Amino acid sequence: MEQYVIKGGHPLVGEVDISGAKNAALAILAAGIMTDETVTIDNVPDVNDIHVLLEAISEIGARVSRPDRHTVKINARSISNLRVDYDYIKKIRASYYLLGALLGKYKKAEVALPGGCNIGSRPIDQHLKGFRALGAKVDIIGGKIVAEAKRLVGCHIYFDGISVGATINVILAACMAEGQTVLENVAKEPHVVDVANFLNSMGANIKGAGTDRIRINGVRALHGSNYSVIPDQIEAGTFMFAAAATKGDVTVRNVIPKHLEATILKLKEIGCEIDEQDLDVRVVSKGNLTNTHIKTMPHPGFPTDLQPLIGVTLSLCKGVSVITEGVFENRFKYLDELARMGANIRVEGNIATIEGVRELSGARVSALDLRAGAALCVAALATDDITVIDDIEFVKRGYERFDEKLKSLGAIIEKVSSERELQKFKLKVG
Ligand code: EPZ
Repeated sequence: MEQYVIKGGHPLVGEVDISGAKNAALAILAAGIMTDETVTIDNVPDVNDIHVLLEAISEIGARVSRPDRHTVKINARSISNLRVDYDYIKKIRASYYLLGALLGKYKKAEVALPGGCNIGSRPIDQHLKGFRALGAKVDIIGGKIVAEAKRLVGCHIYFDGISVGATINVILAACMAEGQTVLENVAKEPHVVDVANFLNSMGANIKGAGTDRIRINGVRALHGSNYSVIPDQIEAGTFMFAAAATKGDVTVRNVIPKHLEATILKLKEIGCEIDEQDLDVRVVSKGNLTNTHIKTMPHPGFPTDLQPLIGVTLSLCKGVSVITEGVFENRFKYLDELARMGANIRVEGNIATIEGVRELSGARVSALDLRAGAALCVAALATDDITVIDDIEFVKRGYERFDEKLKSLGAIIEKVSSERELQKFKLKVG
């Protein structure tokens, strides 16, 4: 099993190019099957989750090609199989976007029911509520969601809870329904807007994405499109907190600062200097950062996906910080790993109290999920010691060339897959 080994204690300094947004690209690639013409999507991040989804899209019969690492062409004319295997859903939950896309276009779909994951049970009741409201018959048979509709007819849907996945999946199902669909209590994340913009570039008629109310006037067919995915605000935030935690000076390039507002505000609050340009944000930390309180919320609140990153940073900030996880029910498990590196933390339910310590110590820790893994790498980089991180497959699901990008900022990090390689690294760094 591959591991990262990190010799920390060096400030990250330099510039890093941010890749396309994984969570936007996954939904956009799924939406790409809703036309029989070719769609060309670029700025797609070269990460494992994307590879798995493209396998699932090929599996149902669409033609998929990759002119280069960041560009994908899809032509769904030849789709013959409306079933998405459990194998794909098990690997990435976002395969369930194919449910909305297939139902929207073919009025029929069968996708395995996703299970929970490390950060929570993550039900999809709101997705199914939306499909049923549009007129689909949706049954759970043998662990599969079987959805079928003679017609999909636009209606008014008020989600019981704000859900990125449900908002996007129901937009997919509604964009070729008859008449108008109004969605309320919707997610407003940048990637929800990006999917709506992509669908509109294919001829859909979606208004209000990014606001509290989305209006969709169904169209009979969608056409091909050339589209570029927005930059990944979570990857950008990851490197911004890495700069803060390592007393560094990092510029994240090719970003949309507006998508980073909550992150920028919190970094300023704990004492970082921020320089915002049109497409870049520079984060400088001279150390002696101070505590803050934070509650993760749906956009435009502080993003839950950066909660582990600010958690690690706050473990090194003077004073007592409090984090309330307002989105998922079990997203503090990484703190157990961080405590093994010497962090001073108490967790009660969805509230974590973190008393800053002067320094952390190296340890062997596990990446329990994608963002937890990235956060433990940041903790290791901030530690004047050697840390080994197991299960880095999680990190590779959502971060493109993570170790290489960190190395370009001065990090001493290697990917190792044997004890011998690990010892060699230790000898080399002394
Ligand atoms: C998306 O997950 C992201 N994944 C997650 O990123 C992100 O953390 C999350 O949105 C919140 O921003 C992708 O986009 C592929 P939700 P999603 O539906 O859509 C509950 C990462 O690290 N809920 O907004 O699954 C749910 O349990 C990943 O890149 C229901 O109760 O998130 C959760 O508590 C991790 N019923 C809350 O809503 C439903 O039908 C928010 O979930 C749907 C959701």
